Amino acid sequence: MAAEIKDLRNLQNTEYGIKKLFDDAEDFLPLLGTDYVELYVGNAKQSAHFYKTAFGFQSEAYAGLETGVNDRVSYVLKQDKIRLILTTPLEENGVINEHINKHGDGVKVMALWVEDAASAFEETTKRGAKPFMEPTREEDGNGHVIKSGIYTYGETVHIFVERKDYNGVFLPGYKKWESHYNPEPVGLKFIDHMVGNVGWNEMNTWCKFYAEVMGFAQIISFDDKDISTDYTALMSKVMSNGNGRIKFPINEPAEGKKKSQIEEYLEFYNGAGVQHIAVATDNIVETVSAMRDRGVEFLYVPDTYYDDLLDRVGEIDEDVEELKKHGILIDRDDEGYLLQLFTKPVVDRPTMFFEIIQRKGAQSFGKGNFKALFEAIEREQENRGTL
Ligand code: FE2
Repeated sequence: MAAEIKDLRNLQNTEYGIKKLFDDAEDFLPLLGTDYVELYVGNAKQSAHFYKTAFGFQSEAYAGLETGVNDRVSYVLKQDKIRLILTTPLEENGVINEHINKHGDGVKVMALWVEDAASAFEETTKRGAKPFMEPTREEDGNGHVIKSGIYTYGETVHIFVERKDYNGVFLPGYKKWESHYNPEPVGLKFIDHMVGNVGWNEMNTWCKFYAEVMGFAQIISFDDKDISTDYTALMSKVMSNGNGRIKFPINEPAEGKKKSQIEEYLEFYNGAGVQHIAVATDNIVETVSAMRDRGVEFLYVPDTYYDDLLDRVGEIDEDVEELKKHGILIDRDDEGYLLQLFTKPVVDRPTMFFEIIQRKGAQSFGKGNFKALFEAIEREQENRGTL
């Protein structure tokens, strides 16, 4: 079946052209970038060790009993512009425990860096966002920050962080985390996009949320004709803020012959949540090679994927044998090409994983790889007996 792609950025000077995108993405919510991603996990100390060892994150900051926090412990890890927080509760009951019990380890917060957190809260809640945190001032000897927050899909939240008057290591309440164990970074630079899986027929609801409540514009959509194999199917739309720094693709399952990977996620996560975090690198071969050496498991792509690669994507700078050796996928669009690879789930439930992406001009999301990729995921599902 013919793939119908609606890449709205390629329709310049039309109703949906790029100018329209930037007109559409209103500036009532100016976003400077991703501030941090916080995961609620069962054992932050050990998770932190994994992200340092396997992903090359650096010890950055810490909060817990030693810093006067009694109900939780949080480790902040950093690699270039990426900040991860790993948080585990210290108490018997509470919202973090409930989150972990229901969802397993997973993303709770996609924090966004803003100039004005009170305005971000007001502008989004008056457009219908469900409040998570009223604008709150936190301070210590290094200044103050203002934080506010709203819910997005599932129990996931966006926290707006205003930090222009703060120069501490991370946020008030955190101290520098000094460690004698500092594995080298693997070249991860920044978060390229974060993908949400939502339930049946909910994709448009959440795209509408990002459009109306947060002023985002839709830049790409795929339907089940584009993204389907013999067994699995999904639909996806990519929402972007006005400056393009924040991109949130939203997936929903579509009818297939067997259970789709999105359904499997929804079942094990018990609802909507973050499916993957895509992180950018300048050298995917080196990054993936280092991560493999440190024990990260990637999806396996059959060697046959590379047989007609150059016919499909044309000239590329990389050595195809090197790409094949690491199972790196390549896709081309009108603006260039991209290289990408997906880890297996990094948690016990078949839920959250990471994508490693290197963009060489292309601003799309690897549509040409979806079929090869999904067949690889189905092989994993087959092994789990959840297909
Ligand atoms: Fe992705």
